[in-house]
Order: sequence, then structure tokens, then C-alpha cells
Amino acid sequence: MEKQFSRYLITAALPYANGAVHIGHLAGVYVPADIYVRYLRMRGRDVRFICGSDEHGVPITIKAKQQNMTPQQVVDKYHAVIKESFSRFGISFDIYSRTSSKIHHKTASEFFKKLYEDGKFIERESEQYYDEEHKQFLADRYITGTCPKCGNDNAYGDQCEKCGSTLSPNELINPKSALSGNPPILKKTSHWYLPLDQYEPWLKEWILENHKEWKTNVYGQCKSWLDGGLQPRAVSRDLDWGVPVPVEGANGKVLYVWFDAPIGYISNTIELMPESWEKWWKSEDTKLVHFIGKDNIVFHCIVFPSMLKAYGEYVLPENVPANEFLNLEGNKISTSRNWAVWLHEYLDEMPGKEDVLRYVLCANAPETKDNDFTWKDFQTRNNSELVAIFGNFVNRALVLTHKYFNGVIPERGELLQVDKEVLAEIPRIKSAIEDALENYKFREALKEAMNLARAGNKYLTDTEPWAIAKTDMQRVATIMNISLQICSNLAVLFEPFLPFTSAKLGEMLNFASLNTTPGWDIAGSSEILHQGHKINSASLLFEKIEDSVVESQIANLEATRAMNEAGSQQSPEVQKVSPLKEECTYDQFSAMDIRTATVLEAERVPKTDKLLKLKIDTGLDVRTIVSGIAEYYTPEQMIGKQICILANLAPRTIKGIESRGMILMAKEESGKMRIVTPEERLSNGSSIN
Ligand code: 2FM
Ligand code: ZN
Repeated sequence: MEKQFSRYLITAALPYANGAVHIGHLAGVYVPADIYVRYLRMRGRDVRFICGSDEHGVPITIKAKQQNMTPQQVVDKYHAVIKESFSRFGISFDIYSRTSSKIHHKTASEFFKKLYEDGKFIERESEQYYDEEHKQFLADRYITGTCPKCGNDNAYGDQCEKCGSTLSPNELINPKSALSGNPPILKKTSHWYLPLDQYEPWLKEWILENHKEWKTNVYGQCKSWLDGGLQPRAVSRDLDWGVPVPVEGANGKVLYVWFDAPIGYISNTIELMPESWEKWWKSEDTKLVHFIGKDNIVFHCIVFPSMLKAYGEYVLPENVPANEFLNLEGNKISTSRNWAVWLHEYLDEMPGKEDVLRYVLCANAPETKDNDFTWKDFQTRNNSELVAIFGNFVNRALVLTHKYFNGVIPERGELLQVDKEVLAEIPRIKSAIEDALENYKFREALKEAMNLARAGNKYLTDTEPWAIAKTDMQRVATIMNISLQICSNLAVLFEPFLPFTSAKLGEMLNFASLNTTPGWDIAGSSEILHQGHKINSASLLFEKIEDSVVESQIANLEATRAMNEAGSQQSPEVQKVSPLKEECTYDQFSAMDIRTATVLEAERVPKTDKLLKLKIDTGLDVRTIVSGIAEYYTPEQMIGKQICILANLAPRTIKGIESRGMILMAKEESGKMRIVTPEERLSNGSSIN
């Protein structure tokens, strides 16, 4: 018999607060987790959705050094950015907290202490690299040297980014400390280890025997770890950022970030429900599910469960439906190379299109293998699926009901075969969605939901109510009644996937005036809206996305690619700057009339790659300037921008166009260019001197 659960504790991986979140995060973890949670809530299950920022670890200390900030300032900044992006996308966490919080430090510290006191760790001494000048042990990332595999001089102690090899610091040739640049010395240090080898037989049984239903990619990765044999894992580090190791004499040591981060799920639950959290974590009838990306599998399926097992009392995850990775336009998403679609940027550039991205990322989710996000696919799915099928059906159904019945649900008459067939689709699709969602098959579930919109669209096309309106209004009434029952089902069934759209559709259908808002249980019915119910006015659920919109996104990525290619030819430490020009006199400088101006219109100069033709308001006149910036800015990006121009430059004719003036640009030796703009918008024609 299938196990029955009384409550559902759903966690989504805690993202590192050392950068913003991108579409890969959303597709891999947060959209599927949110769909699952929304679905469970709609079914009336007792659910808590737990997440927060992962704020410890070496990358955060590195970022802080690079940006001349403290680690706390770094995590404060990104925690806020990440939290806002998730909220704007409708990711419906019950709590989004953070691991630098007091409650987390206390919880993680006590967790460690209990394992320590119960003798669950082994203590080991080893030799590690140490920077004598900075008086600190060096994390692997803080050691650079020559890669033994490919000879790259800038390899890190854990990885060579040139050849992709995984390294350990002692393999590097001529290691150097990234802090002082000096060769580090080897110094003895001791750490606590969780003896994973001791948990191996238990893990084998728990996963390989008892969780054969886990996704193939997850099960396969676990099997290969377990077949390879597990080693003890250090759970502490010599670092000054993290949860201090609560053992006497452990000064300068913190818990390893991968030890404290998953405890974040527990501390965030405590923060959310200080009185009742234990019931959630320690009752056999809690279903714990971790949503993560594939790089987190070992930590969530092997390490964290071993920690929980060592502690005792806690439930173990019932499932860990990890996804593979999402690539972007054929390349791996990379934060350092800025190869990503950042969520906060998308939200600002595509207002009101949160559900479009949720739809595309779910329809194309990397559930069983890595997948690719392309802007063309984004446009096609929007235009040919959301607009042409879902939006079109709903719009036709509502507009026709207003037209023929003043927005009042008419009575259904005798049913024909075509009516019976479409009505039968409603409960069939509802239960297909349930089956798919209960088994973490989100793409399939979404496809089924779209099938209902497709069936509705086809039903209207086949029955053509507009063609029989003059002769058979009774038949039209039946068709519109059925169409609106389908619309109501769509509003309910799409809620987990497209919550903003569902809310909008529910408003158009005037769900608020029903006795109870239709929930999951009522879906499947063809009687959601009773005869006489009045609907509200119709508006479009989705808008067509024009070519220019996606072309501008593609152009941004092409500019990033060009910059990366230019940048990768020199190491970041040796950024060259061009030599100083000859001295000029004050008079020579003041002869130049530099002014602020605003771009009114912009277009590419035909048959050129680099030139844009810009219409500029200089405050004195409106004129044309031809500028070689097309590799860095699309016409759309330039329109409306305030710029600075050399206004009294003698006119020149470029590609047959008279250009009057020059736009001031800052240019790196790598070729990267950016326009120069006043810190605040000023009136056009303000002089610069
Ligand atoms: O890979 C990551 O982004 C990690 N910060 C995920 C941590 S998940 C959990 F264990 F907290
Ligand atoms: Zn290498």
C-alpha cells in the first residue's frame, strides 16, 4: 500500500548569496518546486515550502575581497536581490531566510555539538597550505599555480578552468597564495570528519533497495558514488567566515559550508514555526522532498541523510527530484562570463511576462537531460502556444459569450458527440496532470494542461458558433457554456504553473462572485460556472512577442560573447591601458564643445556590422550622428539614453549619411566600449567642461 503522509515539507536548494539568480536556477529548482507546492496546497495538503540564502563558504569571502566589502555586506546585497527576484516570479515560499541569521548559527552549532558529543565524528590531522604573511590557512580556491595537466599558470587549488581538471592544491606546480602572492608553507591542522564509509551499507539499502523509484539521473549518480566507495568527509574548515566550530580550542575554524547549509532547511523551519517545527522534521508521516540541481545530488542524497541518520530522530527525504542543467543558446550558463539571463534583468525588461518565462522553463525543463534555452524558442512558445492556443481560446470564448449572451452563462441544451468528447477530456486531463505532478513530471503535466486549451480551441473551431448564431442560438448557448466550463478548468489547472495568468483568468470569469473560489477538487467538473453567472470583461492573457524583442536579447548575448572572447586573450591581472597622448593646451581643450543630448531614434546602417544611425536631441537642434557602436548596443538599447557628444565637430559623411558630432565612449584596450553618460539626467545641451 502506498504510504500516507499528513504533512509535506518541501525544500528548494539554498542559493549562494554571492550573485544574482538566473534562468538556470529557476528552471532547475524553483519553478518545479513551486509548481509542486502550489499543487499540494490546492489539494488541501498541509505544506510548508522552505528556502533561504546560503551565505557561507569561500566564494563569498573571495567576492568580498574583490569588491572591497565585508562578507556580510556581500550577502546582505545578494540576499535582497535574490529574494526579490523569487518573489516577483511568484515563487511561493513560506519562508525565505538566510544562513547568516542568529537562529541558523544556533541550530547548526547545536547540531554539530550533538554529533560531536555522541562521538559521531573522527578527528584527523593533516598538512594544509598556510600563508605566513596573512597568518591563515588557505582554502583551495585561494591557492593558484601551474596546472600539472595542461600547464595553465592560473589554475586554482581545486580546479583548472582552462582544461577543466579537478585538482587538489598539492598537485599544483609552484603554488602561490592568492592573498599575498607568496609560496605557501605546509602546516599541520586538524579537522572533524563525518565517516561516510560507516554509513555506506545503510545508504546502499536505503537508496539502492528502497528508493528505486527516484529519478534515473538521481539514482544513477547515487549508485556510482556508492559503488565507488565512500570516504570520511571533513565538516570543518580553517576560515573566518561561517558558523564557528563549537568545540573548545577550535578557534579560527568554522563548519564547512556544506555541513551548515542543509541544516538551513531546519533552522528556517524553526524560524517559521518556532512552536511546532519538530512535528515537521521528526514525524514519520512527514513527506520531506528536496528540490535541487544535479550538482547538489551527493550532498542531499548521501551527506545530509547521513548527518540526519547520525543525529537520529529526523525524517529522511522521501524523494530528491533533481534536475539536470539548462544551457543558454548552446553554451553552459556561466556567472563569471556573464553568460546568463538574470532574473532581475528579465523582470525589468519584460514586465508582466513572469508567466511566459515560467511556462517556457517548465515546458523545456532539463528533467532528464541538459536542455538549451534559446530566445527563439522562447518567442515561439509564447506566440504559437500561449498566444495562439491558450490565449486565443479563452479570448474567443469570453468575447463570444459577451457578444451573444451579454456575458451571462447560458443554459446547455442537448449534447452532441463533439460536446461529449470535449467534456470527457476535462476529467481525463485533470487526472493525467495529477499523475504527472505526483511523479515530479512537470513537463508532462504542463503539456496535459495545454492539451485542454488545445482541445477547447479545436472545439470552437470545429463547432463554429459564430456561423450558426443567426440560425440556432440554442446550439450556440450549449457551445458557449461548455467553452466557459473549459476556461474555468484552465484557470484552476494552470494555477500551479502560471499563477499570474490563472488569477487574471479567474478575475475575468468572475470567480469572486461564486460561493467558493474553485479549487483543485472542483476541477474536472463541467459545472463550475452555473447558468446565469455573469462574467467580467475580457482582456488578452498573453501578447505576441515581436522579433525585435528577442533580437535585442540575442544581440546582448552576442556582445557578451564578443567581450568574453576579447577578454580571454589576456589574463585579468594584466589589463592593458593605452599610452598617454601628447600634452594639449587648455585652449585646445576648451575649443571642444561637449554637450549632453538624448537619443530619439536609432537604427542600424544597412550593410554594416558596426554602425548605428542615431537621431539626437542636443538641446540646440535635432541632428543625425553615425556611430560605430552597433557591436555593443542595439538600436532599442540606445533609444531614450542620455549621452555626451562632441557637438562642434566638423560634419562628416559616413556611408552616404551626414554625421554631425561624435558620441563620447569609454573604450577598454580589449575593445569593450560603453557610452559616457551623466550620473543624473540633465537637460539636453548642458555643457561639459
Ligand atoms: O549549489 C548551491 O547553490 C548551494 N548553495 C546549494 C545549497 S542547498 C542546501 F543544502 F542548502
Ligand atoms: Zn589545466
